[in-house]
Amino acid sequence: MFRPAFSAAQRRCFSVSAQQNSKVTVLGAAGGIGQPLSLLLKLNPRVTELALYDIRGGPGVAADISHVNTKSKVTGYSVGPEGLKAALEGAEIVLIPAGVPRKPGMTRDDLFNTNASIVRDLAKAAADHSPNANLLIISNPVNSTVPITAEVFKSKGVYNPKRLFGVTTLDVVRASRFISEIKGTDPANEEVTVVGGHSGVTIVPLLSQSNHPDITGETRDALVNRIQFGGDEVVQAKDGAGSATLSMAYAGSRMADSLLRAAQGEQGVTEPAFVESPLYKDQGCEFFSSRIELGPEGVKKIHPVGKINEYEEGLIAAALKDLAKNIAKGKEFVKSNP
Ligand code: NAD
Ligand code: LMR
Repeated sequence: MFRPAFSAAQRRCFSVSAQQNSKVTVLGAAGGIGQPLSLLLKLNPRVTELALYDIRGGPGVAADISHVNTKSKVTGYSVGPEGLKAALEGAEIVLIPAGVPRKPGMTRDDLFNTNASIVRDLAKAAADHSPNANLLIISNPVNSTVPITAEVFKSKGVYNPKRLFGVTTLDVVRASRFISEIKGTDPANEEVTVVGGHSGVTIVPLLSQSNHPDITGETRDALVNRIQFGGDEVVQAKDGAGSATLSMAYAGSRMADSLLRAAQGEQGVTEPAFVESPLYKDQGCEFFSSRIELGPEGVKKIHPVGKINEYEEGLIAAALKDLAKNIAKGKEFVKSNP
């Protein structure tokens, strides 16, 4: 996991790996997530070039971040096909947090009408200019924007399911933090597998596989609910000013760092992500989030859900219903609005 403070061993490791060129592009870089995410990427020595694009303010954010005294080159691009092309060309990783966030009372699916076309158009540009990059979709509703991206790449004949990820890292970050608050432990030692999708009941934490399978009854129900609706907690607290940005930036930068580490040969790097998956395909869910081992090729291995209890089986059954609808909606959107 990438952390801002580096041990001597990590610095030695970074100085070797930083010899490789890794261009990382952020589309939506001037937004609430985009800015802190770009800053965290500037602090990561594995990133040698950072390309920041936004329809508003990309060059300004890039100029600001470029003064941070780490080695990577930072470039900023404003709206237009030429800027987008230049931002994308040669990218190893493209992160997409472009789009509108929720306000209180909205579901992530309520963002579909605005964000579906934003993601579709950015996916078209990525398919044209960086077809081999790892694509990390942050824009909501992730359960639908990932299938949208897949359909766009398929229509252009460049789809590689091993390179497309819906970012669900924030769900495991939250689960780890919330469980540590209950147990009074260090979250660094708390790993909770979260599977399914990224909205409400499609977010399924597997507490039976955590360090604390003993959490049961009302405490378990409240914890599961908090993990599933952690996003709403932030939306309500921000009271109309958007949704999670800082914790999301942390989660996005962790996911990007994991991919860079795996690309540079580190073995056993595993993150959850919403990817094309065989696990529940026969139940209408062509995409599903589970633990994914990463490699230089992107997805190296999709881990099965593993042993779960009856309660968790019920959670997954509920998740699959919503998930199948969200996925179908994304695919249908591209068919009707190519
Ligand atoms: P924001 O409004 O602060 O920022 C969005 C940015 O996208 C803006 O700077 C805007 O100019 C830019 N943008 C819009 N259309 C664009 C386009 N066509 N090309 C390039 N840039 C474009 O919003 P935010 O708080 O940063 O959230 C962004 C998205 O991330 C939302 O959809 C939100 O729901 C989602 N999100 C996802 C997760 C997750 O876990 N996956 C977590 C938090 C937020
Ligand atoms: C989150 O989980 O915080 C994001 O998906 C943003 C949101 O709308 O809740």
